[in-house]
Amino acid sequence: VPKSLVILGTGGNCLDILDAVQAINRHTHQFDVLGFLDDNPDTHTQPFGGHPVHGPLSLASRFEDAHFVNGIGSTRSYLAKPALTEALGIDIGRFATLVHPTAVISPGATLKSGTVILANATVCANARMGHHGLVLPNCVVSHDCHLDDYAILASGTVLCGNVTLQKSCYIGAGSVVLEGLTVGAGSLVGAGSVVTRDVPPHTIVAGNPARPR
Ligand SMILES: CC(C)(COP(=O)(O)OP(=O)(O)OC[C@H]1O[C@@H](n2cnc3c(N)ncnc32)[C@H](O)[C@@H]1OP(=O)(O)O)[C@@H](O)C(=O)NCCC(=O)NCCS
Repeated sequence: VPKSLVILGTGGNCLDILDAVQAINRHTHQFDVLGFLDDNPDTHTQPFGGHPVHGPLSLASRFEDAHFVNGIGSTRSYLAKPALTEALGIDIGRFATLVHPTAVISPGATLKSGTVILANATVCANARMGHHGLVLPNCVVSHDCHLDDYAILASGTVLCGNVTLQKSCYIGAGSVVLEGLTVGAGSLVGAGSVVTRDVPPHTIVAGNPARPR
């Protein structure tokens, strides 16, 4: 029986999530998309991706039988994502784990509920991902990486082996984090950076080699 699905957010990531849902459904019809929720009232006036935007995130409690997928995750919103999500009071088990059919997930990797892996991403052996992770297209999460909850990897990120991302890290598009390093909680790595040293918590770094900004 397909699950009803509500997508949180209407940013660009959410359209890619919708594409992933449609690609999954072409294999096996797993999800019926009910629409989107977004706190910006300007988004409520017209459909998004062909589906209605029902209203603010707080309407989530009205979708009693639905599952959810969390598309919040721009450089502006990533730090607010845990509080926005937890305020909804939705049981973590009702957040779907979505994997685009073209993504490759090692049988030895673990993904927790609420994590989303988009097209052509690869999650390698023994990688462990927490809840509400968001891995955009073409990322590589190498062997033995450990991503805490709410990690966001923008398109084309490469995490070398044994990298640790603490809670709510945002790794910008096309960045590389060298093996064994830790990016601290809430930190942001600018697009195209090469991270050669541990990044402390709540720090913005960018460049090659990545330096604090
Ligand atoms: C790092 C980032 C957050 C900084 O944004 P910001 O605070 O608005 O910074 P600014 O654009 O004002 O730039 C500040 C300085 O940092 C430099 N800079 C910004 N981003 C950089 C990057 N990714 N790499 C190297 N230098 C960068 C700018 O050139 C500027 O340098 P200057 O002071 O010498 O002129 C942003 O540039 C970034 O990389 N965001 C990630 C985008 C992304 O990956 N999106 C994913 C879409 S899939």
